[in-house]
Amino acid sequence: MKRLAVFLLGLASCNVCASTSDQSLMQACTGCHAVRASDLEGIGPSLVDIVNRPAGSLPDYPYSKALAEANFIWDIGTLRVWIQHSERMRPGTFMRYHNALTEAEIDRLLNLLSLSENILNEPTQ
Ligand code: HEC
Repeated sequence: MKRLAVFLLGLASCNVCASTSDQSLMQACTGCHAVRASDLEGIGPSLVDIVNRPAGSLPDYPYSKALAEANFIWDIGTLRVWIQHSERMRPGTFMRYHNALTEAEIDRLLNLLSLSENILNEPTQ
């Protein structure tokens, strides 16, 4: 019963909240990237509103040549390839990121990243 109350409270405070497992999934990226406007900058460029943003386009981020000279838009398709093979997609990129994410986890990640509003709660302790 207590758990249900906590769950309902959670629902009341947030319309499209990420679940705890979604938050831990996002940790695959949040070690290096801000995903919310309120996050501190990471060593990678902010991923806030990443979907439909031109690659290598944040004015204040010191991109590698591989991304600074890129000429495409991040969408679900390009992000999927990037998450799986960033170095093969843009040889010379500073994002050397190898992961064991399953297809389903990548789908969920992309879904979270494409919600432009800040849907990720502060991490639960
Ligand atoms: C180990 C640190 C690290 C991790 C973990 C990491 N990234 Fe990155 N990411 C970077 C760095 C550094 C860059 C800048 C690359 C460059 O300039 O070549 C980058 C660049 C990017 C870009 C290009 C953004 C732009 O403005 O063009 C995207 C998109 C991206 N990362 C998505 C992700 C996603 C999604 C995850 C999680 C699945 C992730 N990254 C995990 C370090 C990381």
